Amino acid sequence: MSNCIEQDSLSIRRSVYGLEKTLPVSDNCLFETIQACLKNCPTPFNVQSARIAVLLNEYHHKLWQIIENNLVALTSGEQRAAMRKRIAGFSQAHGTVLFFEDKKSLALLKKKYPLYAKNMSVWVQQANGILQYMIWQTLAENNIGASLQHYNEVIENDLPDLLKLPKNWELVAEMPFGSINKEPAEKTFLPLEERFKIFK
Ligand SMILES: Cc1cc2nc3c(=O)[nH]c(=O)nc-3n(C[C@H](O)[C@H](O)[C@H](O)COP(=O)(O)O)c2cc1C
Repeated sequence: MSNCIEQDSLSIRRSVYGLEKTLPVSDNCLFETIQACLKNCPTPFNVQSARIAVLLNEYHHKLWQIIENNLVALTSGEQRAAMRKRIAGFSQAHGTVLFFEDKKSLALLKKKYPLYAKNMSVWVQQANGILQYMIWQTLAENNIGASLQHYNEVIENDLPDLLKLPKNWELVAEMPFGSINKEPAEKTFLPLEERFKIFK
């Protein structure tokens, strides 16, 4: 297939675990970019139920410290050592984007459109995933590495002590980000013939 529509930027987004604190842009530029993603992300019935908190400095470090402390109780031996190394990598990054869903918005949406109520929970999660991708991709285009993490159950109970957030914000994912100090390993791909069909 000829490369007739620009697509090179798609392959630059990767799960980057080798991160450091410096950033190629200012924090304010970063906040603006994340806000632009949040604002422009498509959502079912334009509900805009996704919420974001960006954690920097001590908030970022405390988040990963709490996750590590809680995981110590659930791991042992080599698994614990590997977990500590992994969490230390996230803590070394510049910050973490936390993605939430506002449970109140979802409840109102279900009430407003009862015909679609049973699909709404899936659709808002899909929209949250689109938002995660928009931010991940935009960061990559600006030379900022990131990965997507799901320590939701490990941190949920401790989050209210760390951050004053509305009670109806439910944690969906964590995205540690920073400058890239180690490129990710080469990625393998399934044959596209197995995954893609054209009918014409
Ligand atoms: C919905 C979703 C959930 C994911 N959850 C995790 C996760 O919890 N931890 C993690 O390290 N990576 C997670 N990933 C990243 C995938 O492992 C990664 O995207 C995949 O291996 C392809 O590698 P790439 O991101 O470098 O292209 C997740 C990705 C997606 C799309």
